[in-house]
Amino acid sequence: MAWLENRHIAPFASAAFDLFLHDLAAKLVNATTDRAELCRELLANFLYGTNYTDLEVRLPWVALQLDPNNILLEAEHYQPLDHEKFAKVKPLLWLWYNFDLSPAAQNMAFGIAFRRLLAQHIFKQCGQNLKIFPGVQFSVGYNLSVGDDVVLHRNVFIDDIGGVTLHSHVSVSDYANIYSHTHSPLESNDVTLKHTTIGAGARITYHSTILAGSTISDDAIVGTMSVVTKDIEPHTIAYGIPAQPMREKMRPPMPIEVDSRVFVAPPERQGNPTYPVAGTNNATRAVKTLVSR
Ligand SMILES: CC(C)(COP(=O)(O)OP(=O)(O)OC[C@H]1O[C@@H](n2cnc3c(N)ncnc32)[C@H](O)[C@@H]1OP(=O)(O)O)[C@@H](O)C(=O)NCCC(=O)NCCS
Repeated sequence: MAWLENRHIAPFASAAFDLFLHDLAAKLVNATTDRAELCRELLANFLYGTNYTDLEVRLPWVALQLDPNNILLEAEHYQPLDHEKFAKVKPLLWLWYNFDLSPAAQNMAFGIAFRRLLAQHIFKQCGQNLKIFPGVQFSVGYNLSVGDDVVLHRNVFIDDIGGVTLHSHVSVSDYANIYSHTHSPLESNDVTLKHTTIGAGARITYHSTILAGSTISDDAIVGTMSVVTKDIEPHTIAYGIPAQPMREKMRPPMPIEVDSRVFVAPPERQGNPTYPVAGTNNATRAVKTLVSR
């Protein structure tokens, strides 16, 4: 018996949501749609129950903030940002993040399908049946690839500026963070972009942090509150700070796609052209810890 049971809402509500999503899907595939206009109209509707023109008259300050043309997101300050790609996804990210502040965002019967539709037009690749809960954010969105049946729970943050791949059936639990860039300890302007890969069926559980460039193999689990600093092998349960391999799932043999022992990660890239050579500003040494005294 599955843990999650099927539940349905009233047919008239379900039909209204389907109609809305059908209309939105048509607008998103239409190359002539002004995405900024679409974003501010929908936000005026979701958050203030009116249209954008009315909001401009009655609440001009509020209207100003709903229009993505008047907004700067953090990633827009990043040196390696692909401005062309980001311009296309930014209005959809702004729509997504502000939709998540509306009552409709908590409605699983609508919010999951709404985010799934936006994700198909934001992510580099988006598989079937994606499920995303409220409060999830990305640094750029366009550098994230997800397989089928991926789940991102509440308040997950995925920094995909350096590239992130989540293979099929990955689950990322509440408040987990997945990174793909790192700063030199000596010179924070020296940034390295490292692709982070999470293998099929891997579970990144509550409040854990995956550092840039990590490879978590298929069927692995990262325990709650862990910090992953090194790769994790298939079927391994790793936890702690730093995360260590602690247990192994006893599985019959199964096909493995991402195995960190043989996986070749995409090459690292410098995020700031002023620092062309990776690792030159990383010289640190260990200091005595409480344990070693
Ligand atoms: C990592 C995890 C899966 C381990 O589960 P488990 O194999 O059943 O392990 P146990 O609960 O028997 O714990 C084994 C030992 O590890 C310790 N431990 C378990 N999880 C830990 C963690 N995240 N950090 C530090 N220690 C942990 C336990 O205290 C126990 O220590 P002990 O042997 O000294 O008593 C589990 O603790 C976890 O983090 N679950 C997250 C829940 C989840 O799946 N969320 C996703 C759903 S959306």
